Amino acid sequence: MKRSYLLANWRKPGLLLVFLLVIGIFFLASKPTHVQAETLQSPLIQTGGIPNAECLSCHAQATEPVFLQSGEPLFLRIDVPMFGNSVHGRNSVTCVTCHSNITGFPHPEVTTPTIHDYRLGYIGVCAACHAEQVNATQDSIHGQLLKQGNQFAPSCADCHDPHTQPLVEEVDKSEFAAVCAQCHNGIYEEYKLSVHGKALLEGNVDVPGCVDCHGVHSISDPTTAEFRNSSVYMCADCHTDETKMAKYGLSTNVLTSYVADFHGTTISLFEKTEPGQKSNTAVCYDCHGIHNILSVDDPQKGLAVKENMLSACQKCHPDATTNFPSSWLSHYMPDKNTYPLVYYVDLFYKILIPSVLGIMAIFIASDIYRRVRTSRRKLVPVEVTPTEEGKE
Ligand code: HEC
Ligand code: HEC
Ligand code: HEC
Ligand code: HEC
Ligand code: HEC
Ligand code: HEC
Ligand code: HEC
Ligand code: HEC
Ligand code: HEC
Repeated sequence: MKRSYLLANWRKPGLLLVFLLVIGIFFLASKPTHVQAETLQSPLIQTGGIPNAECLSCHAQATEPVFLQSGEPLFLRIDVPMFGNSVHGRNSVTCVTCHSNITGFPHPEVTTPTIHDYRLGYIGVCAACHAEQVNATQDSIHGQLLKQGNQFAPSCADCHDPHTQPLVEEVDKSEFAAVCAQCHNGIYEEYKLSVHGKALLEGNVDVPGCVDCHGVHSISDPTTAEFRNSSVYMCADCHTDETKMAKYGLSTNVLTSYVADFHGTTISLFEKTEPGQKSNTAVCYDCHGIHNILSVDDPQKGLAVKENMLSACQKCHPDATTNFPSSWLSHYMPDKNTYPLVYYVDLFYKILIPSVLGIMAIFIASDIYRRVRTSRRKLVPVEVTPTEEGKE
């Protein structure tokens, strides 16, 4: 009875309101209100226990470092205001939440021989609250290197100081590049002088830093066929963005013109016919460089200078001579001034082909019309009989 009452009256505003309210309460109740509340309940983590003040009674002071077997120092002083300001300090992640093996003094002896191994030992600790990032690094190039025992590969604490880490949103984008620079200094020095790097260091966030091209936790091997063949879209992601490029007066035609060009045509075809193979045709960075990309107008190395363009071509077309680049239309769609011959031939076809097709269409249509009319004329007396007309 009740059921049929509800069914029959569901449209009544009062009932509908109650229904929505119940759904709303259910939704709010099922949603975690704060990351902290959720993460701190992780069963792997011991919370509470010894208060920070107890640890800091020794660790707030500048004490001599202790040395690991490798001779590397462990600095024991924790900067109290910095820790308090860190994302972990702010979220009440206490010392012993992470250092759960320490319950008093003296501490258990440190057995890891190097700082690399010492930090490696904490991945499991981070995993309790940041499983997503830990999983992402597993198959990354750095993750694979760690599994192989590479002493120089980074684990979480190499890139994130757990005692001072701010919220990532509060970090200046150029600082991400500085994190990578600790170990990839050669590339960073090159990048700093590039058109992208220079702009980034001036605070421009429209340009790519290391992580925009490589990713962060799931960095893959950039020398694979997959990376190379899809790199064009990585560059084009920004370089076809009208609003972004308008600020710098740069053409957004670079992808369209590239795809239309033989190099682009070949790579699109290549991806379909030979998946997994490295294409030998030119991708954006074969001509422009990678970490050392310069403005095309750079007088020393810019590609708008013919000799520079020629030497870029000669990497793959060793026999190319001075006139070779002229056979290429660059990224620009031909216009009257740059490539008059190509422009007019193109225009000619643009007019000729629609005209021919148009005339043919008119011809065919008129022919069909004529045929239909002739056949109608033949059929009329047979189909329409006077009796049927009368019924209507
Ligand atoms: C009485 C002073 C004192 C107190 C209190 C103290 N520490 Fe230490 N801590 C030291 C000294 C000294 C070292 C140098 C290594 C050693 O002697 O074990 C050290 C080393 C460390 C290290 C680096 C070596 C390792 O074992 O990993 C960590 C981490 C650490 N302490 C964390 C803590 C935490 C967390 C607390 C609070 C529960 C704490 N300490 C309380 C004095 C202290
Ligand atoms: C979010 C987890 C986390 C919290 C919270 C944390 N630590 Fe650490 N701590 C680490 C990791 C990871 C390392 C190793 C990283 C490294 O050596 O750079 C470390 C290293 C240390 C060391 C060895 C010296 C060093 O910097 O390598 C000391 C001493 C230390 N912690 C004390 C403390 C004290 C005291 C607190 C509380 C005020 C604290 N830690 C809070 C994760 C944490
Ligand atoms: C007990 C849980 C816990 C542990 C263990 C822990 N963290 Fe965190 N971490 C947090 C919480 C909570 C935040 C704040 C998240 C937020 O507000 O988005 C945070 C924030 C961060 C952030 C900034 C995230 C952002 O969105 O800006 C980084 C980076 C980070 N942690 C790294 C680490 C590393 C590295 C370790 C291991 C050494 C570690 N954490 C261990 C709980 C933890
Ligand atoms: C090679 C350096 C590097 C390593 C190794 C690394 N991170 Fe990060 N991580 C970064 C950078 C840079 C960012 C900020 C980039 C961004 O958000 O685009 C970041 C962001 C984060 C964030 C914020 C949320 C997010 O995904 O952007 C968390 C949480 C985090 N890292 C945790 C970890 C943990 C846990 C580990 C260990 C498994 C780890 N990171 C290893 C460089 C690193
Ligand atoms: C603690 C050191 C360390 C840090 C920090 C670090 N890397 Fe690495 N990375 C390595 C090592 C070691 C290799 C192995 C190859 C090598 O020696 O260059 C590697 C390899 C790579 C590779 C693959 C190279 C290849 O030839 O296949 C890329 C891409 C890379 N890192 C990008 C980054 C980016 C981006 C960052 C910053 C978010 C970063 N790395 C931070 C140590 C580091
Ligand atoms: C505009 C995109 C882009 C940016 C920005 C960028 N990279 Fe790369 N990186 C690439 C490409 C593409 C390759 C592949 C090169 C190849 O095929 O050999 C590469 C290759 C690499 C390699 C491995 C090959 C080598 O030359 O050793 C490392 C390591 C690397 N990058 C690190 C970095 C670091 C660190 C930064 C920041 C300072 C950075 N990259 C910024 C696109 C980029
Ligand atoms: C075969 C070599 C080659 C390839 C491949 C190539 N470019 Fe270019 N690019 C050039 C040359 C040469 C110029 C300078 C043209 C001129 O000024 O005449 C240029 C100019 C540019 C400019 C400056 C445009 C402007 O408005 O001044 C950008 C941006 C650019 N290319 C991005 C790309 C991107 C993105 C790709 C990949 C989709 C790409 N290029 C592929 C050779 C190439
Ligand atoms: C995250 C967005 C982004 C990505 C990804 C990106 N670029 Fe850029 N690029 C820019 C911006 C923004 C500028 C303008 C910088 C300035 O002038 O200060 C620029 C400038 C350039 C210029 C200089 C144009 C001129 O003549 O002034 C070239 C060439 C270029 N990029 C090529 C590439 C190539 C090749 C790739 C891929 C390997 C790439 N870019 C990836 C955003 C991007
Ligand atoms: C990374 C290697 C590479 C670079 C750099 C390169 N090309 Fe090519 N190019 C190729 C390959 C491979 C083909 C053959 C594509 C096909 O057969 O479909 C090709 C084809 C051509 C063709 C078609 C005619 C022919 O010879 O087959 C022209 C024209 C051409 N490239 C011009 C240029 C110019 C101009 C530059 C410099 C601005 C340049 N290429 C840079 C690899 C490259």
